[in-house]
Amino acid sequence: MHQNPHLNSHTPVLLKEVIDIVQPKKGDSYLDTTAGRGGHAQEILNMSENYPQSVLVDRDSEAITNLANKFKNKSIQLMHQDYLSASRELLETDRRFDIILADLGVSSPHINEVSRGFSFASDGPLDMRMDQRQETIAWDIVNKTDEGKLANILREYGEEPKNRQIAKIIVRNRPINTTIELAALTKQAWPGHSRSHPATRTFQAIRIVVNNELEQLSEALPIWLELLKPNGRLAIITFHSLEDRIVKKFFANESGDRFDSKLSLLTKHPVVPDPHETAHNPRAHSAKLRVAVKQKGKGNANAYSG
Ligand SMILES: C[S@@+](CC[C@H](N)C(=O)[O-])C[C@H]1O[C@@H](n2cnc3c(N)ncnc32)[C@H](O)[C@@H]1O
Repeated sequence: MHQNPHLNSHTPVLLKEVIDIVQPKKGDSYLDTTAGRGGHAQEILNMSENYPQSVLVDRDSEAITNLANKFKNKSIQLMHQDYLSASRELLETDRRFDIILADLGVSSPHINEVSRGFSFASDGPLDMRMDQRQETIAWDIVNKTDEGKLANILREYGEEPKNRQIAKIIVRNRPINTTIELAALTKQAWPGHSRSHPATRTFQAIRIVVNNELEQLSEALPIWLELLKPNGRLAIITFHSLEDRIVKKFFANESGDRFDSKLSLLTKHPVVPDPHETAHNPRAHSAKLRVAVKQKGKGNANAYSG
C-alpha cells in the first residue's frame, strides 16, 4: 500500500517570521532542538551554510531517519535524544551556537499517523510517545493513575474545568484502550456545548505527562542561554499557554536593564501567524514565537566574541 506522501510532511510554522527576526548570517552555527522534518533547519542552514558546527536534535526516530536522508550529503551532527539531555551534553563538551531554535510540540506526521495515538479524530492505541524507545505510554497514565492524581493532571496540564468529572468517568470505565474510547468518555462530562472538542484538553494533558514536556522546557531554557554565543539568538515557538507562560517568564527574568541581564528581547510581544498561514496550516493557529538575543559581553569565558 502506498502511503500518502503528505501524511509524512510537515509545514514549518512561522518560517518567514523566524528568518526575519533571527536573521541567519553566513557562518552562523545552528542548534535545532526540535528538528522534526527539517523545514526550519533547511532554510536557516541554506543561509548560514555552516553544517559542520550545527546540530539537529529530535527524540523521534522517524524524524531522525528523515533528517539523515534530507541532509545526507552534509556533515551535520544529528542527535536522537530529548533536547534536555542533548543540550546538557553539548554544554559539557563546550559547544556554543549563534542560533538556537525550539519549535515545540508534535509534528504533523505524529498527528497523521494513527498508530502513534496522538489524535482523537481516528482510532489508534493510547500511545502518544514522541520517543518510541520510551517505556511509559498514554495507556499507563490513563489506566494506572488514581482518580485524584488523574484529576490533577487534567487540571494542571489540560486546564480542564471538568477535571474531576472526567477523572471519575475514566476510572469507572477502565481499562480504556483506544483514542476514540477515551475521546467518547470525555464527551460524557460535556453533554452540552463546548467551544472545542471535549477531548482536546484531556489529550493535551496526557500527552504533556507522557513526554514530560513542561519539565523538559523549564530545565532546558537556562542551558540554551548558556549554549548561546554573545549576540546569539534564541527563538522559541510554543503551541499552548502553559508552554508560552514558561518562555515568557524566563525571557522576562533574563532581560531588562539590570546589570546582570543576559538577554534582550527581539519580540516585545509574541509573534503569531497571519491569517493566510492559519488558513493554509490549521496547526499554526495557536503558535506564538518569542525571540531573544544574548547580550554581548555576558557570555562565558570560552565563548567566541566576534
Ligand atoms: C513542531 S515539530 C518541529 C518541526 C520542524 N521545525 C520542521 O520544520 O520540520 C516538533 C518536533 O520536536 C520533537 N520534540 C518535541 N519535544 C522534544 C524534546 N523534548 N526533545 C527532542 N525532540 C522533541 C518532536 O518529535 C517533533 O519532531
